[in-house]
This record gives sequence, C-alpha cells and structure tokens, in this order.
Amino acid sequence: MVDRGERLLPEVTDTEALGRELAAGLRAGDLVVLDGPLGAGKTALTRGIASGLGVGGRVSSPTFVIARRHPAGERADGPPVPLVHVDAYRLGGSLDELDALDLDTELDDAVVVVEWGSGMAERLTGRHLLVRMSREPESEVRTASWEWVHTGAAH
Ligand SMILES: Nc1ncnc2c1ncn2[C@@H]1O[C@H](COP(=O)(O)OP(=O)(O)OP(=O)(O)O)[C@@H](O)[C@H]1O
Ligand SMILES: [Mg+2]
Repeated sequence: MVDRGERLLPEVTDTEALGRELAAGLRAGDLVVLDGPLGAGKTALTRGIASGLGVGGRVSSPTFVIARRHPAGERADGPPVPLVHVDAYRLGGSLDELDALDLDTELDDAVVVVEWGSGMAERLTGRHLLVRMSREPESEVRTASWEWVHTGAAH
C-alpha cells in the first residue's frame, strides 16, 4: 500500500477492502484518524482494518461505548496487534474526555482508529494516517483519500 492515495468506493465491500489494504501497513503505535460526515463509511472502513489486522470481535458503531478494544488475533502479514476503535462523536471536541480514554497508553501496543477524531486525536502521536471519506447524496458511492500526516506532536 502506497503512503497516500485516493479511491472511488462504489460499494461497501470496496470500502472494507480498502480497510484491509491499509491494515497491511499498520503496526502497534499507529494512529488512524477517520474524517467524514455521518454515513460516509468510517465504521465500514474500520471493519476492513479489523479484518486485515485479524483482530477478534465484531466492529460496530458504538452507541454507548466510546472506545472498544479488539484483542489481537492471527495476522497474515505482520505481528498480531490489538485494535482500539474509538467513536469520538459524543466527545463533542472535549480534550479532557479524550484524555480520559488513555489512548496514549493504548498506543503502546495497539493500533488506534478514531472516527470523528479530526482536531483532537492528532496530538496523541507525531504522525497519523488521515483518511478523509465523503459521500454523494442518494448514492452508495463513497470516496476516500488517505495520507500519512506528520505533526511532530509528542507521544
Ligand atoms: N461504498 C460504500 N462504502 C461504505 N458504506 C457504504 C457504501 N455504500 C453504502 N454504504 C452504507 O453506508 C453506511 C455507512 O455507514 P458507516 O456506519 O460505515 O458510516 P460512518 O461514517 O461510520 O457513520 P457515523 O458518522 O454515523 O459513524 C452503511 O449502512 C453502509 O452499508
Ligand atoms: Mg461510524
């Protein structure tokens, strides 16, 4: 997987497939920030990342849970790694609440994916994989662009 790119995603299975491809480049300590409006496919992409990492448990849109940890499982293309899936929507931009999730500790041994994390989660690491997702109204088609962004923030 190249470090940056852009892709048209006609169906949800395409979004999941992109997640699996992105997962191949992810190791413990990596942060993924997912940006995009409601229904853009952030959770679908996370499901693909989880599949690529081979972690256990079903990936869903957490209604009451803000962060869910999926235990490491078998992984074909790298060392097994847990996945922490965060939906920061309900944090409403509160950095205190984000801090309370102790994601910096999670990053010691896990990949952390944060939906609605733009503007908050970047400060957790010196670099992160930013995935921007968008959708057309009344259409299944989504688009995604991704790039590693270097912020120089301290972990
Ligand atoms: N090409 C596609 N990629 C992703 N999802 C698609 C696509 N086409 C249709 N869908 C549907 O759109 C919805 C995307 O929902 P998903 O929960 O992944 O979005 P989200 O960005 O996580 O939303 P939220 O902001 O509410 O968390 C799902 O119902 C999925 O089946
Ligand atoms: Mg979601």
